[in-house]
Amino acid sequence: MPFHIVSGDITKLQVDAIVNAANSSLLGGGGVDGAIHRAAGPRLLEECRGLHGCRTGEAKVTLGYDLPAKYVIHTVGPVWQGGGHGEEELLRSAYRNSLLLALEKHCESVAFPMISAGVYGYPKEQALQVAVSTIRAFLEENDMDVTLVIFDKSSFRIDRELFSDLSGFVDRMYDGGSGHPMGGAMYCAGAAPMQAEAARSMPMQGTLEEAKSGRMGMAADVPQEAPKKERRGFLHRAKKESAARMAAEMEVCEDSIAPHDLEAELRNLDESFSRALLRMIDVRGMKDSECYKKANIDRKLFSKIRSDVNYRPSKQTVLAFAVALELDLSETQAFLQKAGFALSRSSKADVIVEYFISHGNYDMYSINQVLFAYDQNLLGA
Ligand code: APR
Repeated sequence: MPFHIVSGDITKLQVDAIVNAANSSLLGGGGVDGAIHRAAGPRLLEECRGLHGCRTGEAKVTLGYDLPAKYVIHTVGPVWQGGGHGEEELLRSAYRNSLLLALEKHCESVAFPMISAGVYGYPKEQALQVAVSTIRAFLEENDMDVTLVIFDKSSFRIDRELFSDLSGFVDRMYDGGSGHPMGGAMYCAGAAPMQAEAARSMPMQGTLEEAKSGRMGMAADVPQEAPKKERRGFLHRAKKESAARMAAEMEVCEDSIAPHDLEAELRNLDESFSRALLRMIDVRGMKDSECYKKANIDRKLFSKIRSDVNYRPSKQTVLAFAVALELDLSETQAFLQKAGFALSRSSKADVIVEYFISHGNYDMYSINQVLFAYDQNLLGA
């Protein structure tokens, strides 16, 4: 997969190169620099001595010695001084020059820490956006497997404005895997600090409208003051009613399909997932590479799907292509059906993807940041 976000220790990764957030002396330090030198052993420092330092925004390469990675790419990020001293451009250069060096060394996979986001004080949310956007621009032009390693996940922040009503949506839609319509609330209570905090501060836009229309969550209708037994009965009836409503909606949906509707096209049951995908790429007027890159799918995997008419994809792969093809919700359901899957309210990942699709936001990098924040598998994996 071209872009991953993972949490953990970069020194443990089996990749061609790991990037070190070093200082300009390249003679070691604390943070990730210290961890890399400890794991690589003393020969790394010996080689670094011969490099005679590195300027901010530039990058130099050494071997990885005792590390699982073959190379260490040492780069120097900017020290945060308030944002008015060219920090963003210097941070972009640090990522870009490291990626170019990885390319020069024929690396197929490279992992980055969040450069400058520790001792150098770059605000984490901004550092993340610079990292993601720079890696993304690079991957639009090049094939490489790039991993961003988040060491301290509790400090991981997604852009609040962009995802202002996401946590409310997840709370309402996600049934906790128990089928209990109040599961979303239970999930919120047990959420990681970032999510709980976000849930408190994010406005629940659209909640009432959707609840009132009966299309979505039922939690708003549950009489909280009723005795437990009555509540259970109420919830049971509400679930049944909701299922009936959904079925009716699906029928209306099917009745209203225009002959050349994408969804109707996708309902051609004799067609395999692979055929449907290739046809949809044509319908969208996309190039193959445009589609698999947008889907965050590895070129080799795409070739496999292309050449095997009966290829059985994972659900994440189907969803990744649904996002790349910008299918709406019912088209996505029809597309998933091709591979024997369905969107489920018992899956937090599905609810998150549903949120993005229903908001017409098909930005895979944003979706994957949110999936990571919620501890879900990323799309395209
Ligand atoms: N794996 C992955 N990430 C790590 C690890 C690790 N083992 N250890 C720390 N990190 C993370 C931090 O949580 C932070 O998000 O790396 C990011 C960068 O933090 P620093 O290592 O402090 O790097 P930076 O902010 O760029 O400061 C560079 O620190 O130790 C010195 O020599 C280094 O002077 C230089 C300065």
